[in-house]
Amino acid sequence: MKKRLSCKVALALVMLFTGASQIKAQDISARFPLVPYPQTLTAGTGLFVINAQTVIITSGNKFRSEAALLNEILHNKLSLKNTGTPTEKNAIQLVDDQTLSAEEAYRLQITPQHVVIKAKDGAGAFRAIQTIRQLLSAGIENKQQALPSQLSLQALTIEDEPTYAWRGMHLDVSRHFFSVDYLKKFIDLLALYKFNKFHLHLTDDQGWRIEIKKYPKLTEEGAWRTFNNQDSVCMKKAADNPDFVIDPKHIVQKSGKTIYGGFYTQEQMKDVVAYALARHIDIIPEIDMPGHMMAAINSYPFLTCNGENSWGKVFTKPICPCNESTFEFAQNVFDEIMQIFPSKYIHIGGDEVDRTDWGKSEVCKAFMKKEGIKDLAGLQAYFINRMEKYFNSKGRKLIGWDEILDGGISPTALVMYWRTWVPKAPVEAAKNGNQVVMSPGNPLYFDTPPDRNSIDNVYHFNPIPKGLTDAEAKGIIGAQANLWTEYIPSENRADYMYMPRMTALAENLWTRNHNYNSYLTRLTRQYQRLENLHVNYRLPDFDGLVEQSVFLDKTVLNLKKPLPNTTIHYTTDGSVPTVKSPELTAPLTITKTSYIRLAAFKPNGVAGDLYNLRYTQQSLATPVAKAGVKNGLLCSYYPGEYKSATLMAGKPAKETFVVDSLTVPKAITAPSFGLRYQGYFEVPQDGIYSFYLTCDDGGVLKVANRNVVDNDGWHAPIEKSGQVALKKGLQPVELNFVEGGGGYTLKLKYSVNGSPLQSVPAGWLKH
Ligand code: ACM
Repeated sequence: MKKRLSCKVALALVMLFTGASQIKAQDISARFPLVPYPQTLTAGTGLFVINAQTVIITSGNKFRSEAALLNEILHNKLSLKNTGTPTEKNAIQLVDDQTLSAEEAYRLQITPQHVVIKAKDGAGAFRAIQTIRQLLSAGIENKQQALPSQLSLQALTIEDEPTYAWRGMHLDVSRHFFSVDYLKKFIDLLALYKFNKFHLHLTDDQGWRIEIKKYPKLTEEGAWRTFNNQDSVCMKKAADNPDFVIDPKHIVQKSGKTIYGGFYTQEQMKDVVAYALARHIDIIPEIDMPGHMMAAINSYPFLTCNGENSWGKVFTKPICPCNESTFEFAQNVFDEIMQIFPSKYIHIGGDEVDRTDWGKSEVCKAFMKKEGIKDLAGLQAYFINRMEKYFNSKGRKLIGWDEILDGGISPTALVMYWRTWVPKAPVEAAKNGNQVVMSPGNPLYFDTPPDRNSIDNVYHFNPIPKGLTDAEAKGIIGAQANLWTEYIPSENRADYMYMPRMTALAENLWTRNHNYNSYLTRLTRQYQRLENLHVNYRLPDFDGLVEQSVFLDKTVLNLKKPLPNTTIHYTTDGSVPTVKSPELTAPLTITKTSYIRLAAFKPNGVAGDLYNLRYTQQSLATPVAKAGVKNGLLCSYYPGEYKSATLMAGKPAKETFVVDSLTVPKAITAPSFGLRYQGYFEVPQDGIYSFYLTCDDGGVLKVANRNVVDNDGWHAPIEKSGQVALKKGLQPVELNFVEGGGGYTLKLKYSVNGSPLQSVPAGWLKH
């Protein structure tokens, strides 16, 4: 991974991993389970013990608020003073150090005598306090219980600063609504992992969530809706998973109707903003326009060009950029938004605009002629650029999703990149001089259900896209993960979707000190803290589980608990396992075709992912006797929209060519299509082969004319796995893949007789 690495940090890394303290990375992780890991950490000797006499000393009035938050972490048991001697004993001292130049930088020294935090401002001091928090026993997080009696910190020295200026998380409160208390819980977790930006997606077609005094109907009407299709999907899933139950807190009866929704008053939101600011986190409000405005248009139909308010082919109809009244509305709304949110950045959305109605509107035709606007993309750019000037006149900077690049953009807007299938967008934006925040759908849309690979993908995501010089790369100011909530109807489901992969992003963006194995070890030490903070985190995956397993005469299901304090329960009758189902405490021998459903359970009885394991008895498939095969597989291209791979059957291919890998050929850039790969795998030995197929969208794998992996239908990148028993030699293979728009992800890995996972080598592919 290419990363900008300063000489100072490179030297520190060498010392950390090979030098001075002679402590190996894994030992360090066990002793200092910090996430994100600091830029430099040098272990000392001895312990600083916190007791009833320990005092927190501020630099006069400076750092008072941070000191109070440190004391809160310690159950408000310590006393605060605002002066002290430089080497005062039994003190945690916050010292003003203007020699630190980087934003949010801090120095932390812990000795048996005292703890000294040095920072130039509150942000640095606060980040240091979160480091101290993670160095303390997880028991401190349990505010219902007394502070652990033995509280100590191991001696060390840390010099730390963030690699990226923008370390963000996003939450969509429009599709499903989240309480003020939940926003604060979210902010607490952002603080714990040293994030500094909280992007709040406040408005969308499904709900307007912030009070605007000038337009009261936005929330009186726009914050409420009857259940929609997405709710129906959630309700269905709730049969197997209680996290999909729509939060009853946000369901009310009004005029004999059941409606869903809610909104934040301006007073409530100002309180949330202050809560975040005290933790040195900016809340970035997003009021999404000109598209995604159905909730507003319902109440204020004058906003569209033709008064219509409905879904177009894919998106809802946008507000009209050709009427002065639209700008008056937008400016009035943002005036109030700017009163609530002091953030330098304000997000205007700008994504997914169906411009069809603008093209049909006589008003727009006349307007474009008058303004010399060539096309509809130019018209959208006119709207965004005019709003940007308005934001700038109020001292704020505009952010938009990367569609704001279409039709021309000023270099002063910040571009938030999300469309994975438009890889040139962030490159062009950075070359244009725009600041860019990276949040590509893959891997940073955390509404994508997590799987075995998600943490790894987030950890190894490089925010700097290819094709930029070092100077241009400075325009990439960081990254954020987004949590869209169409299918996230509860707080528990939200927790599950972003935790723990958010910690991988935290480490990715904060430190240059990347070491994945060390991170995984440190992550295991975070779970107890998350448990105490009542976070419904996702449990680590079981190693080596395959959904469709095969065996010759018998096989053994042998599982290690994902965390020490969990139990594994299973059923064999097709029912969903509960804590009352049989516990898997020893390896289970399987001698007949079986269907096993299992899950790990946390101590509080909450189930982790449900695993549905099918075991089928097979014999080793006899290979095909065929002479003169050539290298590569045949790949047939099916233009058009196939919602599942099975729908390609019987359709004519446009062309067929030879490929040397099972990936989507770079030359294919159509938004939707199907691909059929056919030929043989020349497998090197007899055995049970496990195949792991990741696709976005769908794919189905057959080997030896047996169904091995069914990962069909349009979806985000998910891995599915299956096994097949094969004899050495040429085995027929067919892989059908469909792309619905945007993913282009196709990966096939295998293992044989339990070997480590590896990519299917080009040498196996024959036709
Ligand atoms: C987006 O996901 N429409 C920004």
